[in-house]
Amino acid sequence: MENFEQELKNRRTFAIISHPDAGKTTLTEQLLLHGGVIREAGTVKGRGAKKLASSDWMAIEQQRGISVTSSVLQFDYDGKRINILDTPGHEDFSEDTYRTLMAVDSVVMVVDAAKGIEPQTKKLFEIVSQRGIPVFTFFNKIDRDARSPLDLVDELESILGIQAYPMNWPIGSGQILQGIYDLQKKDLIPFKNAADHPEVRQEGMDEIELLEDAGNQFDEEAVATGKLTPVFFGSALANFGVTEFLREYLVYAPMPMPVETVDDREIEPESDQFTGFVFKIQANMDPRHRDRIAFVRIVSGPFERGMDVTLERTGKKLRLANVTQFMAEERENVQGAVPGDIIGVYDTGNFQIGDTIFSGKKAVRFPDLPTFTPEFFNKVIAKDVMKQKSYHKGITQLVQEGTIQLYKSWNSNEYILGAVGQLQFEVFKFRMENEYNVEIQFEPIGSKVARWINPDQVNEKMASSRNLLVRDRYDRPVFLFENNFALNWFKDKYPDVELEAKM
Ligand code: G4P
Repeated sequence: MENFEQELKNRRTFAIISHPDAGKTTLTEQLLLHGGVIREAGTVKGRGAKKLASSDWMAIEQQRGISVTSSVLQFDYDGKRINILDTPGHEDFSEDTYRTLMAVDSVVMVVDAAKGIEPQTKKLFEIVSQRGIPVFTFFNKIDRDARSPLDLVDELESILGIQAYPMNWPIGSGQILQGIYDLQKKDLIPFKNAADHPEVRQEGMDEIELLEDAGNQFDEEAVATGKLTPVFFGSALANFGVTEFLREYLVYAPMPMPVETVDDREIEPESDQFTGFVFKIQANMDPRHRDRIAFVRIVSGPFERGMDVTLERTGKKLRLANVTQFMAEERENVQGAVPGDIIGVYDTGNFQIGDTIFSGKKAVRFPDLPTFTPEFFNKVIAKDVMKQKSYHKGITQLVQEGTIQLYKSWNSNEYILGAVGQLQFEVFKFRMENEYNVEIQFEPIGSKVARWINPDQVNEKMASSRNLLVRDRYDRPVFLFENNFALNWFKDKYPDVELEAKM
């Protein structure tokens, strides 16, 4: 590929994490407007998505307006090519949301400046922070009354345990928003039509003085390793502070980085060898065909349509001919992609979450993606006892594929499904019916706190009405506690028992 290295250096691949309603969609739209991909706000969500959903689309997708095309958005700005990976929230939250965070090089965290750090932001941040990748914070909605910026920054540091470095600072908010002060250029960017409030400006300047005396030092290395987050303020809706944010983001956000293999080799993105891993599988958009799309993050080498690769887990050779690319509009016909890009490979059942594919002879295997501690559980049975065979086949395949997690009760072999979001149960049910022709029934057992227990310490007497002892699909014992209270009660009663939140 011509200019491969140049293309690669220009890539910036990120996801936006936020609590529902903080403004992720609105910010995404503003970024796309900056990239010239859309010309009008309001096109990403709502009308646009509904119009797209023809009768061919999977029913759940239709209802929720999830589509493959908005899973990865690409645009150009300032000589960079930017990939935004969608991380669905609300009811669409699922393990895919978490797994997508394994495929990005940096993260933008959008926080509602009137609300501060909310639960879903915290959860997503925790997943990201384990990877040690850069996090950029955007405090949104300062065109409305916001909390004091000092408070917000304090809370960010104390709740998330990351250091914060304000790049700019809001002077007032809501009706009295004067603007944002650029702390590098030492310059106020005024909010349009702001009425002058000298006392608000003075207060803002006092805060800035305080920050300059007592705040954190800017440290690029700390940003690159996710220990320090550059903080921006703005209003996505009013398109205020977005350009400034985007410019600075592009200065500090990393290009695609090398990835370590299971045998401790580093695969450099510049390598001639194409490698990538599957981080998400989206099934069956069209009920008449059973195709699925495996989302592959390219780690190294140029991708060219039609190239031959090996699927590491099975050794099977595949030709990557039927591939969706998520290109900026005007380049839709381009046949190539580079590290940092995502390709959607049509799949007839070869892929599993976490699979590595590679070109050439030398085998490469990236580590498995982590599994995430489920919070919701349902017992599951087949409605028709005559269909046990398809039922077991379906469960086995869907679990392997990463659609949902499987547990069994300790003594009886009852099937219990675990998930991080309710959507996973709906998708599971839909696919069991449509792909395996088995109607299933759920018996909700509600939300639980799962803890893995050291197998040598398991004693059935520990089970009570407030917890449930189950085994995961590798036969490891897990306690499902009614709630945190029940967990703490257990810890008090059995102080020597080792419990792990994750396996
Ligand atoms: P999400 O994707 O994070 O869930 O949030 P989304 O962008 O959909 O924004 C949630 C609501 O907050 C929307 O209003 C949106 O217009 C509003 N909003 C986003 N950014 C800002 C901002 O900077 N300032 C103000 N004042 N509001 C903002 P809505 O009425 O719920 O939705 P809609 O009917 O306008 O789409």
